[in-house]
Amino acid sequence: MKILIIGQGAREHAIAHFLSHPHHSLYIAPGNPGTESIATSLPYNPDQIDSITTWAAQHRPDLAVIGPELPLSLGLADRLRALNIPTVGPDQSAARLETSKTYCKELLTQAHIPTPPAIPCTDLHSARSAIRQLNAPYVIKADGLAAGKGVFLPKDNQESDSILDALFNQRILGSAADKVLIEKRIEGREISIIALTDGTTLRYLPPAQDYKRLYDHHLGPNTGGMGAYAPAPWLTPSILETIHHTIFTPLLQTLQHRSISYRGILYAGLMITDQGPQVLEFNVRLGDPETQAILPLIATPLDELFHATANAALNQIPLRLHPARASTAIVIAAEGYPHQPTLHTPITLPTVLPPSTAIFHAGTRRHPDGTLRVAAGRILTATAWAQSLREARETAYALARSIQIPKSHYRKDIAQNL
Ligand code: GLY
Repeated sequence: MKILIIGQGAREHAIAHFLSHPHHSLYIAPGNPGTESIATSLPYNPDQIDSITTWAAQHRPDLAVIGPELPLSLGLADRLRALNIPTVGPDQSAARLETSKTYCKELLTQAHIPTPPAIPCTDLHSARSAIRQLNAPYVIKADGLAAGKGVFLPKDNQESDSILDALFNQRILGSAADKVLIEKRIEGREISIIALTDGTTLRYLPPAQDYKRLYDHHLGPNTGGMGAYAPAPWLTPSILETIHHTIFTPLLQTLQHRSISYRGILYAGLMITDQGPQVLEFNVRLGDPETQAILPLIATPLDELFHATANAALNQIPLRLHPARASTAIVIAAEGYPHQPTLHTPITLPTVLPPSTAIFHAGTRRHPDGTLRVAAGRILTATAWAQSLREARETAYALARSIQIPKSHYRKDIAQNL
């Protein structure tokens, strides 16, 4: 099978790693130094959807897997489907679930899905009055895509005033914050529940917990994700059952009522509260770094799962997991990340990897002198899987310690104290 993957992060490296098979030819646009040995790199960035579509029309892949949200928001899935190329990823209209937080909230409300109350605002004045109406604590969310920088947790009204000023007057996020959502802040435990769906059938991947803050003990600025583990041992089958009945099932029904045929990933960012699970956000792609933790647990071949998703045949494919397996994924980030990462530092990787481990590349680049160098804030994900979460965590940390990158940093508390 000829498979086209779109993306360049550790998530896409993990996807390519678990799709890699002697019977498949993998192509990745644009890929990274980690994918070079398993896939042919195509010289297109994920937002170059015209070039990617032209390549796909000429080369006719049997399957396309779109990793990041940006090409989905630009309509790449629509373009590939118009060429009859089976594609994992929703159409542009359904990608609004992630690209517009106000659209998502409206859809959740219509479907009676539990989610914190929120007020959409288009100017400073209405945002200030929404804040008075909701009372602290609240969250300020930019409506559009903001590369993980669009969610703010102000500690008081003074801080929220300066955030709103930065969004509406200084326009630090540009048009992504033309609208903002002021949302009631709720307490609980966060979890990522990710499902494959062909619009009718849902196949849940193991629940994963992402660590969003930069430093241990959930301190420091929010990041794209500093690590993850899966499955979450504290998430009981009964909570999962509730999530299925109160969140995913009504969402799918509402999408069907809106004549949206959804073939791809549904990723719910949830807060498990004393009153039950509540939706904080929906994404339309796999999570990063959750994917690096989740894929090693799946026993059903990934190509079969993706092919069935793209071809509306998921009801024919069970999702099997490797028995008694858990994983830990640790993101190694450049010093200064997320604001001003130190770039160009050399990276030295272990020459032999221990069994049941993988290093997934993200912000790495091959320098003309042949050395591997840091090219972006999140550099690599060190992943390990084992029979217990404790063993997976210890092996992942041993792997992270064996990677030499000056001026880099990783959290030490991933999968600890659960
Ligand atoms: N790990 C957070 C995300 O992928 O959005």
